[in-house]
Amino acid sequence: MPKTTDSRLQITSQQLQALNRLAQMVISSMDFDMMLQTILHEAMQMAGAEKGAVLSLSDEKNRPMQTLFKTAEHSQHSLDSAFSDLIGGWVLKNRTPLLLDHFAQDSRFVQARTWFSDVRAVLAVPMFVREEIIGILILTRSESFSQNELELMKIVSTQCAQLLENARNYRHVFRENQQLRMEIERRYDYHGLVGNSPKMQQLYALLQRVIPGEARVLLEGESGTGKELLARIIHYNGPRKEKSFIAVDCGALPETLLESEFFGHVKGAFTGAIADKKGLFECADGGTLFLDEIGNTNPVFQAKLLRAVQEGEIKPVGSEQVRKVDVRIIAATSGRLYEKVKAGEFREDLYYRLNVLNLHLPPLRERMEDIPLLASHFLTKFAIKTKKNCRGFSPKVMRILEKYDWPGNIRELENVIERAVALADASDENISVELLPENLTLFHNGSLLLPDNHANLPQAMEALERYMISDALRHCSGNRTSSADRLGITRQTLISKIKKYALK
Ligand SMILES: Nc1ncnc2c1ncn2[C@@H]1O[C@H](COP(=O)(O)OP(=O)(O)OP(=O)(O)O)[C@@H](O)[C@H]1O
Ligand SMILES: [Mg+2]
Repeated sequence: MPKTTDSRLQITSQQLQALNRLAQMVISSMDFDMMLQTILHEAMQMAGAEKGAVLSLSDEKNRPMQTLFKTAEHSQHSLDSAFSDLIGGWVLKNRTPLLLDHFAQDSRFVQARTWFSDVRAVLAVPMFVREEIIGILILTRSESFSQNELELMKIVSTQCAQLLENARNYRHVFRENQQLRMEIERRYDYHGLVGNSPKMQQLYALLQRVIPGEARVLLEGESGTGKELLARIIHYNGPRKEKSFIAVDCGALPETLLESEFFGHVKGAFTGAIADKKGLFECADGGTLFLDEIGNTNPVFQAKLLRAVQEGEIKPVGSEQVRKVDVRIIAATSGRLYEKVKAGEFREDLYYRLNVLNLHLPPLRERMEDIPLLASHFLTKFAIKTKKNCRGFSPKVMRILEKYDWPGNIRELENVIERAVALADASDENISVELLPENLTLFHNGSLLLPDNHANLPQAMEALERYMISDALRHCSGNRTSSADRLGITRQTLISKIKKYALK
């Protein structure tokens, strides 16, 4: 209960302290809902109210956006929302505080007195920001409120109104910011493909026509340009998405196994064939088969593939029976497949069957303007994954990323960022140059910088090795066999070095 009989001075000093505490508590939170709760709680404490409500009004005036109710510990039932609307409506209309000793005896609320017969004293104050009422504080108790308490609540409402308004603006800006970010993501992110350069825009335009259809697709692009990602996007957004997507690297399968892997075999077809086995075509029936590195197949197999592609029929090894399959084929090569046709290494008829729709994935160096977007995309991805704080790149790092020629394309960029995030301290906000691989910092404009004072001989040699490998890969459009020949090393050695330098 309030100490209405205490000396004015004592009450004032206590009230000032309470006011100060309220301001501190409200300021300490920028969360609008928390603020409303704090205001109601503290105002009820200061005025010794038994029940209270705070209405926050929407920007389109006169409509309560939200009402918060609270009761003191010893009282039951909160205020009726019809009651808070009635009092709130009166305050809003008259733009002035309301002080009632006995609600039921007031002539202004005659019609409502039987509905809210348990209410006695009422104190309600508008919360003004400039000329606008943004909220209304309503308190009730069984004993009358004093004029002094009304004055105090007017001060509370004036103080809190501005803070509430700030929090509301903050919430508004925050939500707008979130929405903008999502919009930007949507604009730059086409089904998970990041990039907004003219070359990517062209690709997106083509994709819109490729996805809903059934035609075979040939994807051409250097290593790490996103061929497999694109194949998945085509499948998972197209009419076959409910059925299987099966990816197979034709170059990685031993020639002797190709046929049975693709078309299956029957029991006893060859030594070791102890049971019937379904081939990849049958497993992908109704769905999509992604034939990666299709250029690395031999002519015998190509002839069998032609039949399956052309007729939609397969014959398992050891079987005389032909089976029908319905599979959408997406093939991919890291070079230009037609070069292989010209060299007599790939069947021309199969080439034309596969190349119904041709999508070329540009190397990263031809769309350098996408680097900041891609780098931030991967930074967010790995920061979330590793729960790190990294949010951006130092300007020097961004300069290096934008100048480097990325022979391993997006995969290389992704690996570089993953490594940097893994090495970053939990508190690092920016990726600094020290977190980049040394060989990257030794490059500029696509050429090797002579090692400076900080680089020792092994580092310089690694940089040179990396430079020569990426140069060879670029020169041979990502073809590893030709690159290894050019470098005078075995394919195996080349593959291990590509891994070592995160070129793939
Ligand atoms: N436009 C893109 N936006 C975001 N991530 C991408 C994009 N393109 C590729 N990636 C990512 O880069 C990595 C390499 O892509 P993917 O494996 O599809 O390349 P690829 O062309 O099949 O490479 P390779 O020829 O070496 O097999 C993947 O992690 C993929 O998710
Ligand atoms: Mg691939």
